[in-house]
Amino acid sequence: MLPKHISINEVGARDGLQNEKINISAEEKVKFINLLSLCNYKYIEVGSFVSAKWVPQMKNSDVVYKNIIKNKETIYPLLVPNTIGLKNALESDVKTICVFATASESFSKKNTNTSIEQTKKNIKEILKIAIKNNIKIRAYMSCVLGCPYEGKVSYKKTANLANFLIDEGCYEVSLGDTVGYGTPLETQKLINEVSNKINFSKIAMHLHDTYGQALANIYASMQMGISSFDTSVGGLGGCPYAKGASGNVATEDVIYMLNGMGVDCGVDLQKVLVASKFIYKILNRNIVSKTASAILSKQT
Ligand code: HMG
Ligand code: MG
Repeated sequence: MLPKHISINEVGARDGLQNEKINISAEEKVKFINLLSLCNYKYIEVGSFVSAKWVPQMKNSDVVYKNIIKNKETIYPLLVPNTIGLKNALESDVKTICVFATASESFSKKNTNTSIEQTKKNIKEILKIAIKNNIKIRAYMSCVLGCPYEGKVSYKKTANLANFLIDEGCYEVSLGDTVGYGTPLETQKLINEVSNKINFSKIAMHLHDTYGQALANIYASMQMGISSFDTSVGGLGGCPYAKGASGNVATEDVIYMLNGMGVDCGVDLQKVLVASKFIYKILNRNIVSKTASAILSKQT
């Protein structure tokens, strides 16, 4: 039995753009997110309150958040790594934030210059203040199906950390296959381990498509009862601190697969294509998504 409805969390404006080297202006990002807001998503990630020295592309996230047109039924989260990021989020009146962690000690150091233990302390501190301010918190975990620095990462450690994040007050944990190493049976084993600790309804999957496994991994996750997936328009994406990580699974490819299986996700494929065309024109390259390329080549 597959879930009847899937939530698609659009991460193109954050994960999709964070690794892009050309300077994308706040105005262009606002136009891009406003196009995404026409697609009927319930979740559109806007950017990150991280250090501009570490991730220069995200430096205008506050201006972007302030200027986008926000749908009432959509949440517009931004990533926060520490209390400095949280202070900036509070100043921008952000309603939902994402914290991020990993069970790989090496990736933790590379991504945030922080050990896992210190990250847990930082997250506790962030959550204490965020909850007091009525902010919703989502959590990310990276390298759940393998780390570019350590190789295999223990599913048990990931499950324990996921449990910690939910216990502390995050509403959902998104399990990130940052480098896209995972294959379907491994994905199911991981979900099995994590769901021993937390309910399926609190698990989302965030699958990069480096090795072309993301759709198969999504289907395998759906078979396990997962109904929340992160996707990125056109297949944009990559983490600056995970060498070899290419794009996220493309939103268009996921919608096409779900439509074909009669599973509802509520997101309008044609409108997603408009947003994809817009952002890839700015990036001056071809859309990665096979679905988008196939549909667009028929239309021209
Ligand atoms: P650090 O250099 O260790 O920070 O970076 P620090 O505490 O030593 O401070 C150094 C300077 O940075 C200070 O300024 C701080 O004020 C400033 P100075 O005194 O030199 O002028 N600073 C900040 N500025 C703005 N915003 C902040 C902030 N914090 C300190 N929040 C830090 C530590 C965590 C800041 C840095 O490592 C960082 O920003 N890392 C973020 C990396 C990142 O964004 N990675 C991508 C997102 S995660 C991801 O993509 C994975 C995901 O998609 C899931 C998956 O695919 O797996 C979610
Ligand atoms: Mg990612």
